[in-house]
Amino acid sequence: MSIWSPTSWREKPILQQPTYPNKDELERVLKELKNYPPLVFAGEARRLKEQLADVVNGEAFLLQGGDCAESFSEFHADNIRDTFKALMQMAVVLTYAGGVPVVKVGRLGGQFAKPRSADTETIDGVTLDAYRGDIINGVEFTKEARVPDPKRMIQAYNQSAATQNLLRAFASGGMADLHRVHQWNLDFTNKNEVSEKYEKLAKEIDNSLQFMKACGITSKTYRNLRETDFYTSHEALLLPYEEAFTRKDSLTGEWYDTSAHMLWIGDRTRQLDGAHVEYLRGVNNPIGLKAGPSMDPDDLIRLCDALNPNNEAGRLNIIVRMGANKVAEGMPKLIRAIEREGRKVLWSCDPMHGNTIKSSNNYKTRPVDAVLTEMKQFFQVHKSEGTYAGGVHLEMTGKNVTECIGGDSFIVTEGDLSSRYHTHCDPRLNANQALELAFLIADTLKEGRK
Ligand code: PEP
Ligand code: CO
Repeated sequence: MSIWSPTSWREKPILQQPTYPNKDELERVLKELKNYPPLVFAGEARRLKEQLADVVNGEAFLLQGGDCAESFSEFHADNIRDTFKALMQMAVVLTYAGGVPVVKVGRLGGQFAKPRSADTETIDGVTLDAYRGDIINGVEFTKEARVPDPKRMIQAYNQSAATQNLLRAFASGGMADLHRVHQWNLDFTNKNEVSEKYEKLAKEIDNSLQFMKACGITSKTYRNLRETDFYTSHEALLLPYEEAFTRKDSLTGEWYDTSAHMLWIGDRTRQLDGAHVEYLRGVNNPIGLKAGPSMDPDDLIRLCDALNPNNEAGRLNIIVRMGANKVAEGMPKLIRAIEREGRKVLWSCDPMHGNTIKSSNNYKTRPVDAVLTEMKQFFQVHKSEGTYAGGVHLEMTGKNVTECIGGDSFIVTEGDLSSRYHTHCDPRLNANQALELAFLIADTLKEGRK
């Protein structure tokens, strides 16, 4: 392997990047970003890596979720709060019903850049450059909006800083206190089957807390009851931006990407000789690697060699996203290659990206049934291979959106899609659909422990 530096990716072939018309402005913005304070501290990324190593060892579960794409227009404290609450709610279900500690990672505070299946978009005979996420260009279907603008990186940084600040406040300022377990229920999820199941669980937790209080364990005396660790993550797609936040940790002398705790490589940009693998191999954060149906087992091993040469547990998370009914065929050969070579990886399931369809009324949607099916099959395959199904990676929100169809207790139909379809990119589970999935996972985890 050649020598790595924060800029060595620039010598490699790169996919899914914008072409900025104004190069001077791009340089000016990148120079400015290099002087901005980091968004996370290297010690936090190391702590997350340790917690992910517990997942690799079967002692914890990874819950990663949030928007497909954060946007400038949907930036609001209520949205951040509701996604945080929905994740807390899912985490408590997994911890209580599933019986394992949950490592919580948001697709938040920096998840702005999107890979696209086509470089252009055509509507009514008009063809424009594709939308690539608010950090690059605008979603509006006009020629002006679609021009990549470097200044958007500054706005994305500011929004990420404010988002991460609020998340830290929620995590340690009282919102995450286990005594608030009832308040994590979101208003619109009241009074349906899943929310009743949740209320029942919350009451049981109340009783346990009462007992613990009698034993002298309260929020005052025990930090883990009143605070949680909440980490941020995004796809490291827009490499000039990531490069600007690549900083040497003063404690260890190691490089970290300080734009988020965890970064991942998308299914479209995971070429072994490509720029994205080159960049991420050199930073010490925990990293994710998406694996779709085209992932070849030998390539996966070569990617492990490049990305995790020291075979460090907690460093590499393989995020499988094959689609319902495809995991059973595509995942065993990957697992066997990893086992044969003795690689320590965290396996998590993204049941979203392999299950995207067009509804008859032309919305990009995902059937909740397919999402649940892929998740179940992911667990089944790991069970039969004797490996640990360590986590889930979701596109979800705490808002009552109508973007994915189905759900048992709060059914969204094709006809409902138009009413609250707010995503800037892919369809997200709403809080109710996400909670339903959490109960399914909890049952499976409990089953697995028997
Ligand atoms: C995503 O996570 O939003 C994404 C684009 O995923 P993938 O790379 O797996 O398609
Ligand atoms: Co997506």
